[in-house]
Amino acid sequence: MKKSILLMAVIAAAVGLAACNKPAEEPKDAQKADAGKPAASAGGLIGIAIPETHVERWPGDAAFMKKELEAKGYKVEVASADGDQSKQNKQIEDFITKGAKVIIVGSVSEAAAQAVESAKKAGIQVIAYDRLITGTDAYDYYVTFDNYKVGTIQGEAIKAALDLDKAKGKNITLFSGAATDNNARFFYDGAWDVLKPYVASGALKACGPAPDGSKDAAWPKTTTEGWVAEKAKARMETLLTGDCKAVQLDAVLSPNDTLARAIIGALEQDGKYKTLPFVTGQDGELLSVKWIIEGKQGMTVFKDTRNLAKAAAEVADSLVKGGKPALSGKHKEDTTTYNTGKKVVTSYLLEPVGVNKANATKEMVESGFYTADQVAKGTK
Ligand code: BGC
Repeated sequence: MKKSILLMAVIAAAVGLAACNKPAEEPKDAQKADAGKPAASAGGLIGIAIPETHVERWPGDAAFMKKELEAKGYKVEVASADGDQSKQNKQIEDFITKGAKVIIVGSVSEAAAQAVESAKKAGIQVIAYDRLITGTDAYDYYVTFDNYKVGTIQGEAIKAALDLDKAKGKNITLFSGAATDNNARFFYDGAWDVLKPYVASGALKACGPAPDGSKDAAWPKTTTEGWVAEKAKARMETLLTGDCKAVQLDAVLSPNDTLARAIIGALEQDGKYKTLPFVTGQDGELLSVKWIIEGKQGMTVFKDTRNLAKAAAEVADSLVKGGKPALSGKHKEDTTTYNTGKKVVTSYLLEPVGVNKANATKEMVESGFYTADQVAKGTK
Protein backbone atom coordinates (compact mmCIF):
# COMPACT_ATOMS: atom_id res chain seq x y z
CA MET A 1 0.00 0.00 0.00
CA LYS A 2 2.76 2.39 1.08
CA LYS A 3 4.65 1.56 -2.11
CA SER A 4 1.68 2.31 -4.34
CA ILE A 5 1.20 5.65 -2.55
CA LEU A 6 4.88 6.36 -3.14
CA LEU A 7 4.55 5.34 -6.80
CA MET A 8 1.53 7.61 -7.27
CA ALA A 9 3.43 10.46 -5.62
CA VAL A 10 6.48 9.96 -7.82
CA ILE A 11 4.35 9.82 -10.96
CA ALA A 12 2.31 12.85 -9.86
CA ALA A 13 5.54 14.76 -9.22
CA ALA A 14 6.97 13.80 -12.60
CA VAL A 15 3.76 14.70 -14.41
CA GLY A 16 3.62 17.91 -12.36
CA LEU A 17 7.14 18.76 -13.46
CA ALA A 18 6.10 18.29 -17.06
CA ALA A 19 3.14 20.59 -16.41
CA CYS A 20 5.50 23.24 -15.03
CA ASN A 21 7.09 23.49 -18.45
CA LYS A 22 3.84 24.84 -19.90
CA PRO A 23 3.66 28.58 -20.47
CA ALA A 24 2.27 30.39 -17.42
CA GLU A 25 -0.38 32.24 -19.40
CA GLU A 26 -3.07 30.21 -21.14
CA PRO A 27 -3.43 31.26 -24.78
CA LYS A 28 -6.55 33.40 -25.25
CA ASP A 29 -7.88 31.36 -28.11
CA ALA A 30 -8.06 27.96 -26.45
CA GLN A 31 -9.60 26.28 -29.47
CA LYS A 32 -6.78 27.45 -31.68
CA ALA A 33 -4.19 26.21 -29.17
CA ASP A 34 -5.78 22.77 -29.09
CA ALA A 35 -6.12 22.47 -32.83
CA GLY A 36 -4.29 19.39 -34.05
CA LYS A 37 -3.85 18.01 -30.52
CA PRO A 38 -5.62 14.73 -29.79
CA ALA A 39 -8.45 15.05 -27.26
CA ALA A 40 -7.31 13.77 -23.86
CA SER A 41 -8.05 10.05 -23.51
CA ALA A 42 -9.81 9.86 -26.91
CA GLY A 43 -7.41 7.10 -27.97
CA GLY A 44 -8.60 4.79 -25.18
CA LEU A 45 -6.83 3.17 -22.26
CA ILE A 46 -3.22 1.96 -22.19
CA GLY A 47 -2.20 -0.08 -19.15
CA ILE A 48 1.36 0.05 -17.86
CA ALA A 49 2.54 -2.72 -15.54
CA ILE A 50 5.93 -2.21 -13.89
CA PRO A 51 7.67 -4.93 -11.89
CA GLU A 52 8.80 -3.10 -8.77
CA THR A 53 9.54 0.26 -7.21
CA HIS A 54 12.48 -0.68 -4.96
CA VAL A 55 14.78 -0.11 -7.93
CA GLU A 56 14.75 3.62 -8.61
CA ARG A 57 14.28 3.61 -12.37
CA TRP A 58 10.84 2.00 -12.56
CA PRO A 59 8.56 4.79 -11.29
CA GLY A 60 10.50 7.06 -13.67
CA ASP A 61 9.89 4.72 -16.62
CA ALA A 62 6.17 4.74 -15.79
CA ALA A 63 6.02 8.53 -15.50
CA PHE A 64 7.86 9.06 -18.78
CA MET A 65 5.57 6.58 -20.61
CA LYS A 66 2.47 8.17 -19.10
CA LYS A 67 3.54 11.58 -20.32
CA GLU A 68 4.34 10.33 -23.83
CA LEU A 69 1.07 8.42 -24.15
CA GLU A 70 -1.11 11.19 -22.76
CA ALA A 71 0.42 13.54 -25.30
CA LYS A 72 -0.79 11.08 -27.97
CA GLY A 73 -4.32 11.25 -26.56
CA TYR A 74 -4.46 8.08 -24.47
CA LYS A 75 -5.75 7.54 -20.97
CA VAL A 76 -3.03 5.81 -18.95
CA GLU A 77 -3.10 3.67 -15.83
CA VAL A 78 0.01 2.45 -14.05
CA ALA A 79 0.32 -0.53 -11.70
CA SER A 80 3.39 -1.74 -9.81
CA ALA A 81 3.68 -5.41 -8.88
CA ASP A 82 6.11 -4.93 -5.97
CA GLY A 83 8.12 -7.88 -7.29
CA ASP A 84 5.13 -10.24 -7.09
CA GLN A 85 4.16 -11.96 -10.35
CA SER A 86 0.72 -13.08 -9.16
CA LYS A 87 -0.05 -9.49 -8.20
CA GLN A 88 1.10 -8.35 -11.65
CA ASN A 89 -1.06 -10.95 -13.36
CA LYS A 90 -4.11 -9.61 -11.48
CA GLN A 91 -3.17 -6.09 -12.55
CA ILE A 92 -2.93 -7.20 -16.18
CA GLU A 93 -6.31 -9.00 -15.89
CA ASP A 94 -7.73 -5.76 -14.51
CA PHE A 95 -6.45 -3.82 -17.54
CA ILE A 96 -8.06 -6.49 -19.76
CA THR A 97 -11.41 -6.07 -17.97
CA LYS A 98 -11.19 -2.32 -18.42
CA GLY A 99 -10.79 -2.81 -22.16
CA ALA A 100 -7.24 -1.51 -22.53
CA LYS A 101 -6.13 -1.08 -26.13
CA VAL A 102 -2.55 -2.12 -25.40
CA ILE A 103 -0.79 -3.28 -22.23
CA ILE A 104 2.88 -2.47 -21.70
CA VAL A 105 4.50 -4.95 -19.33
CA GLY A 106 7.80 -4.81 -17.49
CA SER A 107 7.39 -8.34 -16.16
CA VAL A 108 8.53 -9.81 -12.85
CA SER A 109 9.07 -13.33 -14.20
CA GLU A 110 8.14 -15.88 -16.83
CA ALA A 111 4.81 -16.49 -15.09
CA ALA A 112 3.62 -13.24 -16.72
CA ALA A 113 3.08 -15.42 -19.79
CA GLN A 114 -0.35 -16.55 -18.54
CA ALA A 115 -1.68 -12.99 -18.32
CA VAL A 116 -0.21 -12.14 -21.71
CA GLU A 117 -2.10 -15.10 -23.15
CA SER A 118 -5.39 -13.94 -21.65
CA ALA A 119 -4.76 -10.49 -23.13
CA LYS A 120 -4.27 -12.05 -26.55
CA LYS A 121 -7.52 -14.02 -26.18
CA ALA A 122 -9.28 -10.72 -25.44
CA GLY A 123 -7.73 -9.22 -28.59
CA ILE A 124 -5.36 -6.98 -26.63
CA GLN A 125 -1.74 -6.63 -27.66
CA VAL A 126 1.02 -6.69 -25.08
CA ILE A 127 4.41 -5.03 -25.48
CA ALA A 128 7.27 -6.45 -23.41
CA TYR A 129 9.03 -3.49 -21.82
CA ASP A 130 12.71 -3.74 -20.86
CA ARG A 131 12.38 -7.42 -19.81
CA LEU A 132 11.55 -10.20 -22.26
CA ILE A 133 8.43 -12.17 -21.30
CA THR A 134 9.51 -15.76 -21.79
CA GLY A 135 7.46 -18.94 -22.25
CA THR A 136 4.83 -17.51 -24.60
CA ASP A 137 4.29 -16.58 -28.23
CA ALA A 138 1.27 -14.39 -27.47
CA TYR A 139 2.92 -11.06 -28.21
CA ASP A 140 5.03 -9.60 -31.00
CA TYR A 141 7.15 -6.69 -29.79
CA TYR A 142 9.83 -6.02 -27.20
CA VAL A 143 11.44 -2.65 -26.47
CA THR A 144 14.62 -2.67 -24.43
CA PHE A 145 18.26 -1.65 -24.29
CA ASP A 146 21.02 -3.79 -25.73
CA ASN A 147 21.27 -5.94 -22.61
CA TYR A 148 24.32 -7.93 -23.71
CA LYS A 149 26.10 -4.65 -24.36
CA VAL A 150 25.29 -3.48 -20.81
CA GLY A 151 27.36 -6.45 -19.62
CA THR A 152 30.22 -5.87 -22.06
CA ILE A 153 30.43 -2.22 -20.95
CA GLN A 154 30.74 -3.42 -17.33
CA GLY A 155 33.37 -6.02 -18.30
CA GLU A 156 35.36 -3.48 -20.34
CA ALA A 157 35.29 -1.01 -17.44
CA ILE A 158 36.77 -3.67 -15.12
CA LYS A 159 39.38 -4.56 -17.74
CA ALA A 160 40.45 -0.91 -18.01
CA ALA A 161 40.36 -0.16 -14.26
CA LEU A 162 42.50 -3.22 -13.42
CA ASP A 163 44.67 -2.87 -16.53
CA LEU A 164 44.09 -6.55 -17.23
CA ASP A 165 46.20 -6.66 -20.37
CA LYS A 166 49.25 -6.07 -18.18
CA ALA A 167 48.15 -7.21 -14.73
CA LYS A 168 48.57 -10.56 -12.96
CA GLY A 169 46.49 -12.13 -10.20
CA LYS A 170 43.89 -9.40 -9.72
CA ASN A 171 40.95 -10.52 -7.57
CA ILE A 172 37.28 -10.30 -8.44
CA THR A 173 33.98 -11.67 -7.24
CA LEU A 174 30.87 -11.93 -9.40
CA PHE A 175 27.21 -11.03 -8.85
CA SER A 176 24.17 -11.43 -11.10
CA GLY A 177 20.65 -10.01 -10.93
CA ALA A 178 17.43 -11.97 -10.37
CA ALA A 179 17.43 -15.46 -11.90
CA THR A 180 13.78 -14.86 -12.89
CA ASP A 181 14.76 -11.85 -15.03
CA ASN A 182 15.94 -12.78 -18.52
CA ASN A 183 18.04 -9.60 -18.64
CA ALA A 184 20.22 -10.83 -15.78
CA ARG A 185 21.59 -13.55 -18.07
CA PHE A 186 22.46 -11.11 -20.83
CA PHE A 187 24.21 -8.79 -18.35
CA TYR A 188 26.32 -11.63 -16.94
CA ASP A 189 27.13 -13.12 -20.33
CA GLY A 190 28.24 -9.77 -21.74
CA ALA A 191 30.56 -9.13 -18.80
CA TRP A 192 31.83 -12.70 -18.66
CA ASP A 193 32.71 -12.76 -22.35
CA VAL A 194 35.05 -9.81 -21.73
CA LEU A 195 36.51 -11.18 -18.47
CA LYS A 196 36.79 -14.90 -19.27
CA PRO A 197 40.08 -14.71 -21.24
CA TYR A 198 41.72 -12.89 -18.32
CA VAL A 199 40.52 -15.53 -15.87
CA ALA A 200 41.91 -18.16 -18.23
CA SER A 201 45.29 -16.37 -18.41
CA GLY A 202 45.52 -15.85 -14.66
CA ALA A 203 45.38 -12.04 -14.93
CA LEU A 204 42.14 -12.25 -13.01
CA LYS A 205 41.23 -14.65 -10.21
CA ALA A 206 37.68 -15.11 -8.99
CA CYS A 207 36.80 -15.87 -5.39
CA GLY A 208 33.34 -17.39 -5.02
CA PRO A 209 31.53 -18.95 -7.96
CA ALA A 210 32.69 -17.99 -11.47
CA PRO A 211 30.20 -19.68 -13.81
CA ASP A 212 31.16 -19.99 -17.46
CA GLY A 213 28.16 -18.01 -18.68
CA SER A 214 24.54 -17.93 -17.54
CA LYS A 215 23.85 -21.44 -18.88
CA ASP A 216 26.43 -22.90 -16.47
CA ALA A 217 24.78 -24.86 -13.64
CA ALA A 218 26.71 -22.68 -11.16
CA TRP A 219 25.20 -19.41 -12.45
CA PRO A 220 22.24 -19.33 -10.01
CA LYS A 221 24.79 -19.17 -7.17
CA THR A 222 25.73 -15.66 -8.32
CA THR A 223 22.14 -14.42 -8.59
CA THR A 224 20.29 -12.01 -6.31
CA GLU A 225 16.68 -12.89 -5.58
CA GLY A 226 14.28 -10.16 -6.72
CA TRP A 227 17.14 -7.69 -7.27
CA VAL A 228 16.88 -6.96 -3.54
CA ALA A 229 19.75 -4.89 -2.08
CA GLU A 230 19.74 -6.67 1.31
CA LYS A 231 20.22 -10.04 -0.41
CA ALA A 232 23.31 -8.77 -2.26
CA LYS A 233 24.68 -7.24 0.93
CA ALA A 234 24.21 -10.51 2.81
CA ARG A 235 25.91 -12.46 0.02
CA MET A 236 28.85 -10.04 -0.04
CA GLU A 237 29.20 -10.41 3.75
CA THR A 238 29.26 -14.18 3.37
CA LEU A 239 31.91 -13.95 0.64
CA LEU A 240 34.04 -11.61 2.77
CA THR A 241 34.10 -14.05 5.64
CA GLY A 242 34.31 -17.13 3.38
CA ASP A 243 35.53 -17.56 -0.21
CA CYS A 244 37.04 -14.07 -0.46
CA LYS A 245 38.43 -13.88 3.07
CA ALA A 246 42.06 -14.45 2.21
CA VAL A 247 42.23 -12.06 -0.76
CA GLN A 248 42.19 -8.34 -1.34
CA LEU A 249 39.43 -7.73 -3.88
CA ASP A 250 40.26 -5.43 -6.79
CA ALA A 251 36.83 -5.53 -8.42
CA VAL A 252 33.27 -6.69 -7.93
CA LEU A 253 30.99 -7.30 -10.90
CA SER A 254 27.64 -5.92 -9.77
CA PRO A 255 24.81 -5.93 -12.32
CA ASN A 256 23.12 -2.69 -11.20
CA ASP A 257 23.45 0.34 -8.94
CA THR A 258 20.99 -0.77 -6.27
CA LEU A 259 23.08 -3.89 -5.67
CA ALA A 260 26.39 -2.04 -6.15
CA ARG A 261 25.66 0.29 -3.22
CA ALA A 262 24.63 -2.65 -1.04
CA ILE A 263 27.87 -4.46 -1.93
CA ILE A 264 29.90 -1.32 -1.21
CA GLY A 265 28.11 -1.09 2.15
CA ALA A 266 29.26 -4.62 3.03
CA LEU A 267 32.84 -3.84 1.90
CA GLU A 268 32.94 -0.69 4.03
CA GLN A 269 31.59 -2.53 7.05
CA ASP A 270 34.24 -5.20 6.68
CA GLY A 271 36.94 -2.69 7.60
CA LYS A 272 39.68 -4.39 5.56
CA TYR A 273 39.27 -2.07 2.59
CA LYS A 274 41.04 1.28 2.90
CA THR A 275 40.68 1.51 -0.89
CA LEU A 276 37.45 0.06 -2.19
CA PRO A 277 37.48 -2.42 -5.09
CA PHE A 278 36.17 -1.20 -8.45
CA VAL A 279 32.43 -1.93 -8.27
CA THR A 280 30.31 -1.81 -11.44
CA GLY A 281 26.67 -0.78 -11.71
CA GLN A 282 23.83 0.03 -14.05
CA ASP A 283 20.92 2.50 -14.33
CA GLY A 284 22.64 5.79 -13.49
CA GLU A 285 20.85 6.00 -10.13
CA LEU A 286 21.26 9.35 -8.47
CA LEU A 287 23.21 8.29 -5.39
CA SER A 288 25.46 6.05 -7.49
CA VAL A 289 26.29 8.96 -9.80
CA LYS A 290 27.30 10.97 -6.72
CA TRP A 291 29.40 8.03 -5.50
CA ILE A 292 31.06 7.65 -8.92
CA ILE A 293 32.08 11.31 -8.87
CA GLU A 294 33.41 10.82 -5.32
CA GLY A 295 35.29 7.67 -6.38
CA LYS A 296 33.31 5.30 -4.18
CA GLN A 297 31.58 3.36 -7.00
CA GLY A 298 33.54 2.55 -10.16
CA MET A 299 31.01 3.06 -12.93
CA THR A 300 27.42 2.71 -14.01
CA VAL A 301 25.68 2.00 -17.28
CA PHE A 302 23.22 4.72 -18.12
CA LYS A 303 20.11 3.67 -19.98
CA ASP A 304 18.16 6.79 -20.85
CA THR A 305 14.67 5.68 -19.90
CA ARG A 306 13.18 8.81 -21.46
CA ASN A 307 14.07 7.30 -24.84
CA LEU A 308 12.81 3.82 -23.93
CA ALA A 309 9.50 5.27 -22.75
CA LYS A 310 9.17 7.21 -25.99
CA ALA A 311 9.90 4.08 -28.03
CA ALA A 312 7.30 2.07 -26.09
CA ALA A 313 4.69 4.80 -26.57
CA GLU A 314 5.39 4.85 -30.30
CA VAL A 315 5.05 1.07 -30.59
CA ALA A 316 1.80 1.18 -28.59
CA ASP A 317 0.40 3.94 -30.79
CA SER A 318 1.27 2.01 -33.97
CA LEU A 319 -0.40 -1.12 -32.60
CA VAL A 320 -3.61 0.77 -31.74
CA LYS A 321 -3.64 2.25 -35.22
CA GLY A 322 -2.94 -1.12 -36.81
CA GLY A 323 0.42 -0.39 -38.39
CA LYS A 324 3.95 -1.74 -38.08
CA PRO A 325 5.82 0.13 -35.36
CA ALA A 326 7.85 3.10 -36.54
CA LEU A 327 10.31 4.43 -33.98
CA SER A 328 11.60 7.97 -34.31
CA GLY A 329 14.67 7.62 -32.04
CA LYS A 330 17.99 5.84 -32.55
CA HIS A 331 17.59 2.08 -32.19
CA LYS A 332 18.48 -1.31 -33.66
CA GLU A 333 15.74 -3.64 -34.83
CA ASP A 334 16.71 -7.17 -33.83
CA THR A 335 14.79 -10.16 -35.11
CA THR A 336 17.17 -12.92 -34.03
CA THR A 337 18.35 -12.52 -30.43
CA TYR A 338 15.34 -12.55 -28.13
CA ASN A 339 13.74 -15.97 -28.06
CA THR A 340 10.88 -16.46 -25.59
CA GLY A 341 11.29 -20.22 -25.87
CA LYS A 342 8.19 -20.22 -28.08
CA LYS A 343 9.25 -17.68 -30.71
CA VAL A 344 11.72 -14.93 -31.50
CA VAL A 345 10.10 -11.54 -30.90
CA THR A 346 10.91 -8.42 -32.87
CA SER A 347 13.02 -6.33 -30.51
CA TYR A 348 13.93 -2.68 -30.58
CA LEU A 349 17.26 -2.18 -28.85
CA LEU A 350 18.42 1.16 -27.55
CA GLU A 351 22.02 1.99 -26.80
CA PRO A 352 23.37 1.91 -23.22
CA VAL A 353 26.22 4.27 -22.26
CA GLY A 354 29.08 3.59 -19.84
CA VAL A 355 29.44 6.33 -17.23
CA ASN A 356 32.47 6.96 -15.04
CA LYS A 357 33.96 9.89 -13.19
CA ALA A 358 35.17 11.47 -16.45
CA ASN A 359 31.84 11.64 -18.27
CA ALA A 360 29.32 11.58 -15.39
CA THR A 361 28.46 15.26 -15.63
CA LYS A 362 28.17 15.19 -19.39
CA GLU A 363 25.93 12.11 -19.53
CA MET A 364 23.85 12.58 -16.41
CA VAL A 365 23.55 16.36 -16.00
CA GLU A 366 24.19 17.97 -19.38
CA SER A 367 21.74 15.48 -20.90
CA GLY A 368 19.08 16.97 -18.60
CA PHE A 369 18.45 13.68 -16.80
CA TYR A 370 19.40 15.16 -13.40
CA THR A 371 20.24 18.64 -12.21
CA ALA A 372 23.73 19.37 -10.88
CA ASP A 373 22.15 20.06 -7.50
CA GLN A 374 20.45 16.63 -7.40
CA VAL A 375 23.75 14.90 -8.21
CA ALA A 376 25.58 16.92 -5.56
CA LYS A 377 22.99 15.88 -2.97
CA GLY A 378 22.57 12.35 -4.31
CA THR A 379 18.83 12.72 -3.95
CA LYS A 380 15.91 14.63 -5.52
C1 BGC B 1 16.63 -3.81 -15.71
C2 BGC B 1 17.65 -3.00 -14.91
C3 BGC B 1 17.26 -2.98 -13.45
C4 BGC B 1 16.92 -4.38 -12.93
C5 BGC B 1 16.31 -4.34 -11.54
C6 BGC B 1 16.48 -5.19 -15.09
O1 BGC B 1 15.59 -5.96 -15.81
O2 BGC B 1 17.02 -3.89 -17.06
O3 BGC B 1 17.70 -1.70 -15.43
O4 BGC B 1 18.30 -2.47 -12.67
O5 BGC B 1 16.01 -5.03 -13.77
O6 BGC B 1 15.10 -3.66 -11.53
